[in-house]
Amino acid sequence: MKSKLEDILKNARGLFQEADTEASLNDLKVRFLGKKGELTNVMKGMRDLSAEERPLIGKIVNDIKNEMEELFDARREDIHHASLDRKLREEKIDVTLPGRRSPRGSKHPITLVTEEINEIFSTLGFGVVEGPEIENDYHNFEALNIPKNHPARDMQDTFYVSDDIVLRTHTSPVQIRTMLQHKPPLKVIAPGTVYRRDSDLTHSPMFHQVEGLLVDYKVTFGDLKGTLQAFLNRFFGKKIGVRFRPSFFPFTEPSAEVDIQCVICSGKGCRVCKDTGWLEILGCGMVDPEVFKAVDYDPEVFSGYAFGVGLERLCMLKNGISDLRLFFENDIRFLKQFTN
Ligand code: PHE
Repeated sequence: MKSKLEDILKNARGLFQEADTEASLNDLKVRFLGKKGELTNVMKGMRDLSAEERPLIGKIVNDIKNEMEELFDARREDIHHASLDRKLREEKIDVTLPGRRSPRGSKHPITLVTEEINEIFSTLGFGVVEGPEIENDYHNFEALNIPKNHPARDMQDTFYVSDDIVLRTHTSPVQIRTMLQHKPPLKVIAPGTVYRRDSDLTHSPMFHQVEGLLVDYKVTFGDLKGTLQAFLNRFFGKKIGVRFRPSFFPFTEPSAEVDIQCVICSGKGCRVCKDTGWLEILGCGMVDPEVFKAVDYDPEVFSGYAFGVGLERLCMLKNGISDLRLFFENDIRFLKQFTN
């Protein structure tokens, strides 16, 4: 029996040592020490031993049992450490690897054009002012010499919030707000969002303008022409052909619309300029005396000019963009191209 016990122990030592997962180790524990385990089986045979042998063998069985339990515990520790080591090795972070960049946003092309125009006019001495997009009838129409029932109201299909409140149809009401707040002389531009009930391939119900207003003593149409020419040259980065066509606005007299030589075909004629060689880009004129009266400026003492330019058009021409809708779709593949 003694040698049988020694064989079991020897066998167990080897097998415990070989076990390399906690599961296989637990199986071994059951195999040797479990209720139907090998050691238990031997102990059952102790009944047949003599009274002298029994305590001797009993002690050996106990010793073996203790050793097996120690072996089991020690091996379990080893396996645990080994798996920890492996984990640490495998999950080690290599801090020298290049990081993943988080995508960076960029300014909208219309914002970039606005900033550029602000910059150009700032160097010419103009201040930048702003007004509300929700405007009342007085500032958007009445004070600009567009009384109720005036046919000019049809030119600008208006979004009405209520009888008296509109989404501004142009940036010209900022002229009125500025003149009501400040005494002449003054020199400002007013960039902003404007709204009209108009939506097709070349019109968006929401778009952007920059208004210009200069009031001083003895301002002439020549001043207006010179300023706009200087602005357009700077904006397009070259001397640009400009023509003034007589036009009508209720708040300027005389009024003009300004065309630039087509920047796509240099005036030869193409699809963009509909073979005319010219592109209309802004409206302007000398401030109408009626407007000065509305803001309590003396038209006998002061004169001034005003202009309003659409930004989407300018931005399309400058960047060779052929579809207005691109500005409002917020497709990141389009916007990404305008990083500054
Ligand atoms: N407000 C006019 C428009 O939106 C443009 C304009 C501004 C014309 C200032 C003359 C003077 O069409």
